[in-house]
Amino acid sequence: MGKTFAIVSQKGGSGKTTTALNLGAAFAVRKLRTLLIDLDPQGGSAYGLGIKPGDFSMGANDLLLGKADIRDLLIPSENPYLRFIPAGSFSNVAEVDRFHNLGKRLGVLRRAVLSVRDECDVILFDTPPGENSLAVSALNCADSVVIPLQCEPLALRTLPQILRLIREVKTKVNPALDIEGVLLTMYDVRYGFTEQVSEQVWKNFPRDLVFETIIPRREDFSKAFIQGRPAVFDNPMSPASLAYLQLADEIISGLASSL
Ligand SMILES: Nc1ncnc2c1ncn2[C@@H]1O[C@H](COP(=O)(O)OP(=O)(O)OP(=O)(O)O)[C@@H](O)[C@H]1O
Ligand SMILES: [Mg+2]
Repeated sequence: MGKTFAIVSQKGGSGKTTTALNLGAAFAVRKLRTLLIDLDPQGGSAYGLGIKPGDFSMGANDLLLGKADIRDLLIPSENPYLRFIPAGSFSNVAEVDRFHNLGKRLGVLRRAVLSVRDECDVILFDTPPGENSLAVSALNCADSVVIPLQCEPLALRTLPQILRLIREVKTKVNPALDIEGVLLTMYDVRYGFTEQVSEQVWKNFPRDLVFETIIPRREDFSKAFIQGRPAVFDNPMSPASLAYLQLADEIISGLASSL
């Protein structure tokens, strides 16, 4: 049965979608059957996989509306081990608002995910930033949480808020929820505060709750969005890709030791 990970952060732009895409691609390169589900109406994950709005008519939004079966939503990627479910098509703000409200239908998503877990080794959720019902819905389905933390002071200050949300979900609806780890992203020693932030994280968090892998700041990730191909697929030997492959290996070794 596949292990389900929610990728969440309080602050926007912390690298959730980049992590969802490249960690998903890295699991696929390691031949794990991977399903990436986008719960963010921004639709960044589809963009990063080169899937255009016209390439699909339905997504997670239709699943929550009860209009689609999860199996009808699966979109293949260039790697047979990675499949994708887009957030959906939204033509106005009201539809985006409704999707956020549908996030409260916790049982619908959980049942749908359960019905495909046996066909997957890993399921990843990309989520919108902050404490919102779609992030809660992903946390309710998840076994474990990956928290990307951009190496800058504001991101660090918002970390307690997302930890509080995870704690609340664990207490109220999903007692099995674990934290896989805080993932330092956009690490760049040219910025003084990068090292200050990472030192604070290492000092204040138990060692096993911070990934050893650190994601460097690399232009490759922005270019990959433009090309519609995760960096891990585009150039697997680049330092950017190797970081996500190492992260996948770190998580896989945890999976193996928990068996
Ligand atoms: N390691 C990195 N190095 C350089 N740029 C990065 C890195 N990770 C992400 N970026 C860039 O930073 C921006 C934000 O990244 P991303 O979209 O992954 O964050 P996010 O947390 O999903 O944002 P949102 O909260 O809006 O969903 C993007 O332009 C992305 O290309
Ligand atoms: Mg995103």
